[in-house]
Amino acid sequence: MSLFAKKPLEQMLAQAEGKGLKRTLGAGNLVALGIGAIIGAGLFVRTAAAAGQAAGPGVTLSFIVAAIGCAFAGLCYAEFAAMIPIAGSAYAYSYTTMGELVAWIIGWALIMEYALGAATVSIAWSEYLNKLFGGAIPYEWTHSPFESFTDSAGVHHSGIMNAPALVILLLLTLLLIKGTQESAIVNMVIVFIKVGIVLLFIAIGWQFINPANHTPYLIPEGTPPVTDQAGKVIADYSGWNKHGWGGILGGAAIVFFAFIGFDAVSTAAQEAKNPKRDMPIGILGSLVVCTILYILFGHVLTGVANWQDFVDPEKGREASVAYAISQYMTGYGWLATAVTVAILAGFSSVILVMLMGQSRIFYTMSNDGLIPKAFGELHPKHKTPYKANWILFVFVGLFAAFVPGHVAGDLTSFGTLFAFVLVSAGVWILRVKAPNIQRPFKTPIYPVVSALGVIICTAMIIGLDSQTLKVAFAWMAIGLVVYFLYSRHHSKLKNPSEILPHASDFERRD
Ligand code: ALA
Repeated sequence: MSLFAKKPLEQMLAQAEGKGLKRTLGAGNLVALGIGAIIGAGLFVRTAAAAGQAAGPGVTLSFIVAAIGCAFAGLCYAEFAAMIPIAGSAYAYSYTTMGELVAWIIGWALIMEYALGAATVSIAWSEYLNKLFGGAIPYEWTHSPFESFTDSAGVHHSGIMNAPALVILLLLTLLLIKGTQESAIVNMVIVFIKVGIVLLFIAIGWQFINPANHTPYLIPEGTPPVTDQAGKVIADYSGWNKHGWGGILGGAAIVFFAFIGFDAVSTAAQEAKNPKRDMPIGILGSLVVCTILYILFGHVLTGVANWQDFVDPEKGREASVAYAISQYMTGYGWLATAVTVAILAGFSSVILVMLMGQSRIFYTMSNDGLIPKAFGELHPKHKTPYKANWILFVFVGLFAAFVPGHVAGDLTSFGTLFAFVLVSAGVWILRVKAPNIQRPFKTPIYPVVSALGVIICTAMIIGLDSQTLKVAFAWMAIGLVVYFLYSRHHSKLKNPSEILPHASDFERRD
């Protein structure tokens, strides 16, 4: 069978219609859903990382670049989500437009987005938990074996494993297996807390901005590398994407992580009351709200603390927001604690959504025969894909425990950007190949938006660290081996009679 065999669109639409979910979500719920999945480690951890490693105070501009890339891809997601409202998101869209091999590649890349996204946020969760405990958990048990540093007393510390990250993943996996679903109300509460804390930090922090911290606004060329006490280089600004305007692009690739999650809105297309109107509002509305918050937040954070503080592991490199507050905002110690508690709750919801999203994508891929049946088996009582959840726990747990947060985070950005490129291209391809399909929402200024989605997201991929790109390509190569050894021979397109129950089954509970 051809590597580019496509799943017929009619078959997809029939699947989507077959066991429909209730259309209960309005535009407000969808915006809240987006914000709930979007605001997390990206804002609270990677803003400082981008400022310290590439963009300096110009991280605000990095947010704008990343948001523009997301807006183009978001519009394309909205067109697909309104047209093919089915679980599987970018993987499913690719299957019908670009064929099985591309769908597989995107499904494999989505593992980087969701599974590694969950790992990244759990690592950030661990950092903030330790901050809450006043650093009582030893460095060795909150870091991967690939991380080490020598403190000011000359003591060398090496990570062993990130134990708290593993604990939060286990708890949330158990919750997912039990069938806990985030209701719109719970999500609203978490969004309220998260947004409230961000606004509080912006409003109070504004008074503590030191204008000197914003000058110069971009990291100057020739900035010397930063070393730790033992002389090990921990930040090097010589690369084109580590200083000046190039650093803005490098920073955009880092903070792009903060926007991941708006595509989760597209997976709720089937539950939107009026997808034609509400999907664009949900996707673009959450993006606009978050972008404004992010720019203000970046402005305040790099104004309160100097961006160079965010390079030093003994200063604000970890738990940067709490550091900035406790170090520079005298009298607001309580805010540092409140921020930390709210961040921990917020991170938990992001991890939960990521794990849930990944298990759904696994479920759909299993339904199509591209990965083993176990991924699609539902718990007899809870009706959740419990085997997929356990396999996912082991996989995500290994990354969370043994891989540094920035590595997992950059790979997450790669996987997501890759999906965005293909979704943007997919819209274009389907407009050419099937111009007459009913499209409840049409991406405006076609094909400019599709083309810009492809170009900007590709540029952000290029802006990623070369090490990240090497690991990402190695991951994709492993994916191709799996496809040719296993998936190709088990594809249900060859054998349609074996189709499993539809993905929406596990959401239906009697
Ligand atoms: N955007 C999500 C976060 O920042 C993934 O945690």
